[in-house]
Amino acid sequence: MRILLQVPGKAMDEWHAELARTLPDAGISRWPDVSADPDYALVWKPPAELFAAARPAKAIFNLGAGVDALLAVTTLPKDVPLIRLEDAGMAAQMAEYVTLAALRVFREADAYATQQREVRWKPRRRLAHGKFGIGILGFGVLGRAVAAALLPFGFPLAAWSRARKAMKDVATFAGPGELADFLARTQFLVCLLPSTPATRGLLDRATLGRLPPGAHLVNVARGDILVDDDLVALLDSGHLGGATLDVFRIEPLPPEHPFWHHPRITLTPHVSGVTSIADSVAQVAAKIVRLERGEAVSGVVDHGRGY
Ligand code: OXD
Repeated sequence: MRILLQVPGKAMDEWHAELARTLPDAGISRWPDVSADPDYALVWKPPAELFAAARPAKAIFNLGAGVDALLAVTTLPKDVPLIRLEDAGMAAQMAEYVTLAALRVFREADAYATQQREVRWKPRRRLAHGKFGIGILGFGVLGRAVAAALLPFGFPLAAWSRARKAMKDVATFAGPGELADFLARTQFLVCLLPSTPATRGLLDRATLGRLPPGAHLVNVARGDILVDDDLVALLDSGHLGGATLDVFRIEPLPPEHPFWHHPRITLTPHVSGVTSIADSVAQVAAKIVRLERGEAVSGVVDHGRGY
């Protein structure tokens, strides 16, 4: 079996070594060395030339959870199954990141940090768990892991997704018709949506304006789902209490971007869920074995839906 591997930068050696260890019988070539069409291509943000030079016969694996960058590659063959990573070590990290942010906001860590800087001893009135509704936008593998991590704290939990999904102790909402009700009960909004034509720009002034006053936004999905200026306007007007952002329209976030110095924004450089090479290769290899046996695999992307 022939596998073509393409990952930008220095990580190529590590991916290659892990893949060779996991699938010792595979013939692995590294982009741009292509002598024959591969059976499988494992790619992350590939250049358009890749699919012009090599047409994978059996499947293309996206080495990340989000396929937005890959779907934008004009040469991507539409008739070759496209499979994305599911969890692959990211779910536990996302759960940690979001839990940290939720508790930081709920326990008012930023306010106490300010008080410490001002040498001010002032216990604040405890917020009630029941009034801290957490809403997860996008309820796939990552959204469910985040919900499972937050459940033990006793916050009212809700999730919204395109098609209805169920989880014990989580109120679920579905489709555009139920978005307003979901937002109205959400004091802490976590965006885990894929970036698709239907979600780009969804978090604008109108959508975020439906959150209750003082609400907090966490974006760990994609920067283009959020309208940056609308967020800043809602923070400045006091309608939103704060935002924790890990993803941006342009990455690295340009130094002149207003998010860097906004007093109500906490930001990190796209680290909420970093792809684990070992977990990813194990997952891709297991799927290749299944495909070789003619069995179905999960994580197949629907081009029309965009994820
Ligand atoms: C991903 C990412 O999509 O790292 O996996 O953003």
